[in-house]
Amino acid sequence: MRILLLGKIGQLGWELHRTLSPLGEVIALDFPQIDLTQVGSLRQIVRDAHPQVIVNATAYTAVDRAETEIDTALAINALAPGLLAEEASALGAALIHYSTDYVFDGAKGSPYLESDIPNPLGVYGQSKLAGEQAVEQAGGISLILRTSWVYSLRRDSFVVKVRQWARQQPTLRVVSDQVSNPTWARMLAEITAQLLAKGGENVTGWLGERGGLYHLAGSGYASRLEWAHAILSHDPQPEEIVTRELVPARTADFPTPAQRPLFSALDCKKFNDTFGLCLPGWEDALRLAMLSE
Ligand SMILES: NC(=O)c1ccc[n+]([C@@H]2O[C@H](COP(=O)([O-])OP(=O)(O)OC[C@H]3O[C@@H](n4cnc5c(N)ncnc54)[C@H](OP(=O)(O)O)[C@@H]3O)[C@@H](O)[C@H]2O)c1
Repeated sequence: MRILLLGKIGQLGWELHRTLSPLGEVIALDFPQIDLTQVGSLRQIVRDAHPQVIVNATAYTAVDRAETEIDTALAINALAPGLLAEEASALGAALIHYSTDYVFDGAKGSPYLESDIPNPLGVYGQSKLAGEQAVEQAGGISLILRTSWVYSLRRDSFVVKVRQWARQQPTLRVVSDQVSNPTWARMLAEITAQLLAKGGENVTGWLGERGGLYHLAGSGYASRLEWAHAILSHDPQPEEIVTRELVPARTADFPTPAQRPLFSALDCKKFNDTFGLCLPGWEDALRLAMLSE
């Protein structure tokens, strides 16, 4: 299998580079070898690589900065995925692309289905939704995997931040009114590789029969406060923790440029039913992540 992986040093991309490598030849690139804002060179890179599968782990993920860097967010999250889908289609290749729970406004009050109507609250979510639509409109073989609250211990994730705060502050105030599915990047990468492995040599045909939009995130959901509690309780170096108290706070207590959805948990049943695969419970994955990273 010949795979073009874009975004190899991001949280997810770094894990994908490891999990996809046993499947065949992986051409893995990141900025500045590729710049998703440069349309012409991006097309040429895809044509030169001539992959069977493109896995796009790049994204503009600075949720607050996106409110002012609108053109850049749209170029990377909307125009580039559309272009990748067009190039994939022209080559007869499949595109695997990731999207976000932030396409929803968080008002539903129960886990979101793929059939629920998106209503993003900020530019990041709008740009990612536009990316989903551009991929769908290109008409080739594609899988759009909407995920949520992705973390790794390598980059500046919520887990890394809580671990740092817990070594500095006796009391932590953490929002209890934002709820979603914490998702370990490694698990998402492993399940992506399993999908491709299931397709085998006929991967494009196999994905072609199952293409579309799916929700795929850690099983179960939690508030950020519950997540922070779990991060502290599974920390492999508890003797370094100085935090004695976690205090619930409200999102409104921490004003940010971008509004975030409050309840954006994803229902992943469609993915589970279609592929016979599911991500483990979010807290089991967190425990493993903290032991193994
Ligand atoms: N993080 C989350 O909580 C979350 C939640 C839901 C969905 N998702 C989605 O999951 C996917 C993976 O997210 P992630 O957390 O792994 O993201 P990430 O760690 O921010 O990685 C994004 C990657 O894209 C690269 N990139 C940014 N601008 C680029 C450009 N102009 N040209 C080429 N590459 C560029 C980044 O390079 P640099 O490092 O050099 O900037 C980085 O390697 C994305 O589709 C994201 O929208 C993430």
